[in-house]
Amino acid sequence: MARILVVGGVGYIGSHVVSLLMEAGHEVTVFDNLSTGLQANLFSENRLIVGDICKEIDIFSAMEGQDAVMHFAAKKAVAESMENPAKYARNNLIGTLNLLNAMDHHGVKYIVFSSSAAVYGMPDVSVVDENTPVNPINFYGFTKAEIEKCLQWYDRLCDIKFVALRYFNAVGYDMNRRSRGHEANPQNLLPIIIEVAEGKREKLKIFGDDYPTPDGTCIRDYVHVCDLAQAHLLALDKLMNGMDSQILNLGTEKGTSVKEMVTAVEEVLGKKLNVEIAPRREGDPACLIASAEKARKILGWKPQITDLHQIVKSALPEDL
Ligand code: UFG
Repeated sequence: MARILVVGGVGYIGSHVVSLLMEAGHEVTVFDNLSTGLQANLFSENRLIVGDICKEIDIFSAMEGQDAVMHFAAKKAVAESMENPAKYARNNLIGTLNLLNAMDHHGVKYIVFSSSAAVYGMPDVSVVDENTPVNPINFYGFTKAEIEKCLQWYDRLCDIKFVALRYFNAVGYDMNRRSRGHEANPQNLLPIIIEVAEGKREKLKIFGDDYPTPDGTCIRDYVHVCDLAQAHLLALDKLMNGMDSQILNLGTEKGTSVKEMVTAVEEVLGKKLNVEIAPRREGDPACLIASAEKARKILGWKPQITDLHQIVKSALPEDL
């Protein structure tokens, strides 16, 4: 049992990790500014500290007495990061530095950090391992890449051990979770398709069908949020048992095209969806699939929910 500060613990991925940490018997404190996190993701057993990593006083006082940190608090909308870099610099970069300084001040030695496949940008290869050059093409990805470098320096200089988990495309919800607040204003493919099915959006625009892929639409590696959450617990356990700092990809090593995802939703719901082919979106690589061999070897991690229909079912709201 450890005392764990989960920063961003009422957000999409953070709240799934909190569930698992509690099940495993850890003492969880959630730290969140409630800017995008949902009240529905609050568990009454947790201590909630409403605070902001951008305010040193908030994060320094929350850090006292903790054994480890899980850090999910970040802005994550790629397009917005290009229009409003200051917001991403403040929340992601400065916020994380405040958090690391608070850890150092209070002698907290372990952190699991949410990184992203966005650090790779437009890689030359379609199957990406951790040695693929880091070359972000948007400011969001840049913040994640820079934080990884800071983590390496704080390891060297302050002996803070970290695992940075580079998520590929996170999807789905835990169907057994007591509460499962859905993200408001979703920006990603599967929740957008589901909003089309619900009638909340008129149609799905497929961004390009002339990519060099079998059906012409972009291929991504969709990894279930419960599998992502599991990797965090494995990472924490290994860290607290002496493992060295690591950077690890988290993906299923399986590619799904945009059209395949649409078809999967149509099959699960038994109805056709309104879809239109639109121009390519700037900065979209044709194919992005993880090699997760390193996570498999180092953490013993293996994603369990890889069936597309199962993924889609887990992502549907209860009333659909
Ligand atoms: N897509 C559409 N129409 C839409 C939305 C998306 O065709 O309305 C397509 C995109 O072009 C892309 C695929 O669906 O080919 C997935 O797009 P998302 O926006 O859901 O996800 P991205 O792959 O662009 O990026 C996601 C996260 C990033 C993260 C990255 C890591 O949003 O934060 O995965 O792989 F960095």
